[in-house]
Amino acid sequence: MKLTHVIESQQFTVPSLMELFDRAQLMEKIAARGGTRDYENKIMATLFYKSSTRTRFSFEAAMYRLGGKVLATEHANEFSSEIDGGQLEDTIRIIANCSDVIVLRHTDEGAAKRASLVSTVPVINAGEGAGGQHPTQALLDLYTIYRECKALNGLSVALMGELDNGRTARSLAYLLSKFDRVKLYFIAPSEIQIKPDILAYLDSHRVQYELAESPEHILSHVDVVYRTHIDRERLQRRDIDLTPYNINAGVLSTMKSNAIIMHPLPRSVEIDPAVDNDPRAVYFRQSRNGLFVRMALLTILFDQG
Ligand code: CP
Repeated sequence: MKLTHVIESQQFTVPSLMELFDRAQLMEKIAARGGTRDYENKIMATLFYKSSTRTRFSFEAAMYRLGGKVLATEHANEFSSEIDGGQLEDTIRIIANCSDVIVLRHTDEGAAKRASLVSTVPVINAGEGAGGQHPTQALLDLYTIYRECKALNGLSVALMGELDNGRTARSLAYLLSKFDRVKLYFIAPSEIQIKPDILAYLDSHRVQYELAESPEHILSHVDVVYRTHIDRERLQRRDIDLTPYNINAGVLSTMKSNAIIMHPLPRSVEIDPAVDNDPRAVYFRQSRNGLFVRMALLTILFDQG
């Protein structure tokens, strides 16, 4: 796989995804024995302008398990001497001189692309903008589906919740569209439904999809239910109630016995903790898979370096 930067889901092909997943399975074994020292000369910089716990820890743990070193800044908007976002390019030029890979979370859509255009080392998009993309989350999501469902072709997947600004759902829709006979259900109130750019992409790739306001009659027959993270303040401001989209024991009882429930985390009321012990609740395994997928991505970037 030729991988220079990781900017958006569309850049991956099915063969490159399979190569990544083979490597992630190898990383699972390496992590289980405590890691490797193979990448001890490598430095990863994590530059986060927006809050993150899961993505940042997962990348940093991945680098440590590979034997490498980490330079980290969170709240980069507060702690950097940059005056405004216009200086991102200069910051990237300087950090590229100090590191072998830059992992960037940013407030602005397009920031990772801008960074990649001036960086002398690979840039990885760790989530950007409100309605942008989060490709490494989508890669770990797809890896989880691959591991749990033992297939990627022919699946029906319900993406449910705050979809317009749901960058993980957006990135995952792009990845799922690469597989045969996939059917996507976008379930959300019309005000926060998935944006037309995704639907146009699915149309152009002849991917089947349906839009629905209610989960009724859908969750009982899909293979994957992907509930998104919510922005509670935004929903309250817009007076949108997502309670009918929450997953609880009642919803579980209507689902197929081999379906899976996913969530990028953190969750609040979207999934009742009573669901956690059901074998179909895979969100904590999903989160753990982030370590293996990010180790795999880093080694692919370093090995071709
Ligand atoms: N899933 C996810 O992106 O979580 P963080 O915002 O904590 O990184």
